[in-house]
Amino acid sequence: MTGDATWRADPELDADSADLLDALLPILCAPAGCVIGQLGQSLDGRIATRTGHSHYINGIAARTHLHRLRALADAVVVGAGTVAADDPALTVRHVPGPHPLRVVIDPKGRLAEHHRLFTDGEARTLHLVAPGALPDGGAAHRHAAHLQREELAVAPDGALARAVIVRLREAGFRRVLIEGGSTTLSHFLAADGLDRLHLLVAPLLIGSGKTGLNLPPIDTLGDARRPTCRRFSLGADTLFDLALRGER
Ligand SMILES: NC(=O)c1ccc[n+]([C@@H]2O[C@H](COP(=O)([O-])OP(=O)(O)OC[C@H]3O[C@@H](n4cnc5c(N)ncnc54)[C@H](OP(=O)(O)O)[C@@H]3O)[C@@H](O)[C@H]2O)c1
Repeated sequence: MTGDATWRADPELDADSADLLDALLPILCAPAGCVIGQLGQSLDGRIATRTGHSHYINGIAARTHLHRLRALADAVVVGAGTVAADDPALTVRHVPGPHPLRVVIDPKGRLAEHHRLFTDGEARTLHLVAPGALPDGGAAHRHAAHLQREELAVAPDGALARAVIVRLREAGFRRVLIEGGSTTLSHFLAADGLDRLHLLVAPLLIGSGKTGLNLPPIDTLGDARRPTCRRFSLGADTLFDLALRGER
């Protein structure tokens, strides 16, 4: 593990607890709140095989870390692709803690009504669609008290990402976790919408299949982003904690 000079855990703590605190304190203590992205990927930057098989790339320690991030977040954001592919619950199960608001970005309103986020009532869900995307205005689930449907003006990808952050911040959601998938996370990163990124890298090579981040192309390595990076061991996986504000 390498820490940075700003955050130091009490030397009396055992190494594992100190690492845990060291990794999470920048999120907990950010005075203006924090938008944090996360992505679990293989060594060669893949998040699924070509058939879409992705459970599980990361080990249990990294998956527990994701649940810890959810528990610390006021809201967790996913794209329509993740809900369509995985039907996730997005609740906190591997650690104690409250469930965050679950936010789905679904501009075309293409998600079916049966998905867990819309039906399970385990936590509140905010379903963001473009104006007029749902012909019935979402009437099918007006009776579901945990579900709120809201129209967000259509905007280019990055602008929509920024609008989501503004919408959540204005409603008092200070800590926001962008959980994925890769398209959604890439939009937020390209729009400069993340304060930190937790890349959870598992020691396997998938070799083909769905890639992780996809950002606008650059011509030279001088144009590459080089954020301050801290590394932590999570079982066999490595957490790269990237600070995306004030880099270079
Ligand atoms: N490894 C991990 O940590 C992790 C985490 C989560 C998910 N996943 C995996 O990721 C895969 C899904 O990823 P994905 O890239 O296909 O889909 P995705 O990122 O979940 O969803 C992308 C879709 O969401 C909508 N969207 C999200 N942000 C938008 C923005 N800023 N502007 C406009 N539209 C936006 C668009 O929907 P429309 O196209 O309908 O307009 C877009 O196509 C699944 O296989 C899942 O298992 C992996």
